[in-house]
Amino acid sequence: MSDKKNVFTEMNGSFTGNDQFQKEGADYYNPDAFRELVKARRSVRKFTTEQIPDVIVDDCLEMALLAPNSSNLQTWEFYRIKTDSIKKDIVHACFSQPAAATAAELIVCVAQPTHWRAHCKQMLEYFKTMPVETPKSALVYYSKLAPFVYTVGFLNSLTPFKWLFNTVVGMFKVVPREPISSIGLALWSIKSCALASENLMLAFRSHGYDTCPMEGYDSCKVKDAMGLSRSAKVVMIVGAGKRADGGLYGPRVRFPREQFLKTL
Ligand SMILES: Cc1cc2nc3c(=O)[nH]c(=O)nc-3n(C[C@H](O)[C@H](O)[C@H](O)COP(=O)(O)O)c2cc1C
Repeated sequence: MSDKKNVFTEMNGSFTGNDQFQKEGADYYNPDAFRELVKARRSVRKFTTEQIPDVIVDDCLEMALLAPNSSNLQTWEFYRIKTDSIKKDIVHACFSQPAAATAAELIVCVAQPTHWRAHCKQMLEYFKTMPVETPKSALVYYSKLAPFVYTVGFLNSLTPFKWLFNTVVGMFKVVPREPISSIGLALWSIKSCALASENLMLAFRSHGYDTCPMEGYDSCKVKDAMGLSRSAKVVMIVGAGKRADGGLYGPRVRFPREQFLKTL
């Protein structure tokens, strides 16, 4: 892959019919509203018994699905737990922590790393229905490059070869280094699912409800309760509801920004 001409430089949007989408979102401007929303989101550990209307839960889930995600392959799933027996098992798997036990809603955010292959095919099918001409580079991306990058082989059988390829070719060219194993593929998928989870929490807050993201759970028991496959990764469980008195355990704590914000 040359540095100058590759699938990323070729996919420049200058294809027939694309003009009508160029302004999508471009006029939106509301930093104050965004700052307020981000600041208003806190992890709340105790909720009242008030239920969240379906239409609001649905809207929040919709906002989760609009998150950016790698290669737009959408290897995520969001499970709204409505069945009492499953909810009981999940609360138990969450060590019965109050953020789960008192939540009006439990949403399990799941990464499905292995779904990339089916979604590549789905994307190629989707292109056929789009009102704009699909650039050749996009077809090449989903039919050739993505399968090349995301295939790790049965039981990671391709890992040594991918590592060798990346190491040798990487001495001379820019190469996509990850993922080369199923763990890398899981990380790849989890990143995007985590972004969507944040969208979900901000959406609940925008409707006046609070959330608590949780990873304090026994993932095997959560997966058993939900009937999820071994390859599925529980990224986090989001409890949501109306904030109860004492639901916030303390003021927001963040270390000094200089510790984390760097300029190079
Ligand atoms: C991935 C992740 C997992 C978390 N797991 C838990 C959890 O199991 N239980 C809990 O009470 N809070 C959990 N939290 C909430 C954090 O403790 C909280 O975000 C942090 O203390 C900062 O507070 P804030 O969210 O109010 O800004 C989790 C947060 C994240 C992002």
